[in-house]
Amino acid sequence: MGNLPDPKLAETFVDPTRVAHPPIRTHGYLDVLAPSTDEPVSLANRFMQSPLLAAVYERAWRPMFTRMFSYGGRGTATVHTELMRDITTGGGQKILDVACGPGLYTRQLATSLADGGACIGLDLSEPMLRRAVRDNTTDYVDYVRGSAHALPFADGTFDTVVCLAALYLIPDPEQAVRELCRVANPAGQIAIFTSLQTPLATLPGAEAAMRIGGFRAFGRDEITGWLRAHGWVDIDQTLTGQGQFIRARR
Ligand SMILES: C[S@@+](CC[C@H](N)C(=O)[O-])C[C@H]1O[C@@H](n2cnc3c(N)ncnc32)[C@H](O)[C@@H]1O
Repeated sequence: MGNLPDPKLAETFVDPTRVAHPPIRTHGYLDVLAPSTDEPVSLANRFMQSPLLAAVYERAWRPMFTRMFSYGGRGTATVHTELMRDITTGGGQKILDVACGPGLYTRQLATSLADGGACIGLDLSEPMLRRAVRDNTTDYVDYVRGSAHALPFADGTFDTVVCLAALYLIPDPEQAVRELCRVANPAGQIAIFTSLQTPLATLPGAEAAMRIGGFRAFGRDEITGWLRAHGWVDIDQTLTGQGQFIRARR
């Protein structure tokens, strides 16, 4: 575990006019949803809230879904490494990692940050955030429990906003993309990794299973279309079999 974070790092980013309750710092992260929230939770999301999944996520879950997303196309891990290299500019950058899970990428995104820089990881799941605080805290990293549907930050707060391997689990992904666009600085960038609608994902059984589980596969032009509608027109998209990486600038 790294050094303990400045206890005020996340507090300096949260906009008090965008939260229903005064934020509470608990288990090392800042909770803007406690004591209660009516946030919609799908079956897949319930699974994401399990302490067992948080415990085995890096060792068992990530390798499995990385292989699954690569099926029939380019290696997801390779494209992910390229994307992280390209978007990690460091220095005094302000970075937001939406649906950060156990925080591995949050910490990696913060690697070359310097004074004035910060990387905030936000997630809905308490077990994931406890793991993130425990395993992936550094001087420039802090964590917030909140929802991708209503990010607790003012417009244009972050230079880089990422949402990796999560949009397909979020009940209203179009609203989440609207929020990514809102909190990103107009001169900044947005990076997304998510699922892709392929012949495999449209098999009858697969469609029903995804609908029941709350998992979604996106058309090739769906998310890029939402980004364009919000003015993010400089868009790179890389397909990796069952997944898609998107990097957008205005
Ligand atoms: C598969 S994990 C991905 C975690 C991390 N980004 C990664 O790539 O390892 C998906 C995460 O999305 C989070 N999540 C799902 N719905 C959310 C929402 N509405 N707001 C914030 N996080 C959400 C889950 O709790 C879970 O930690």
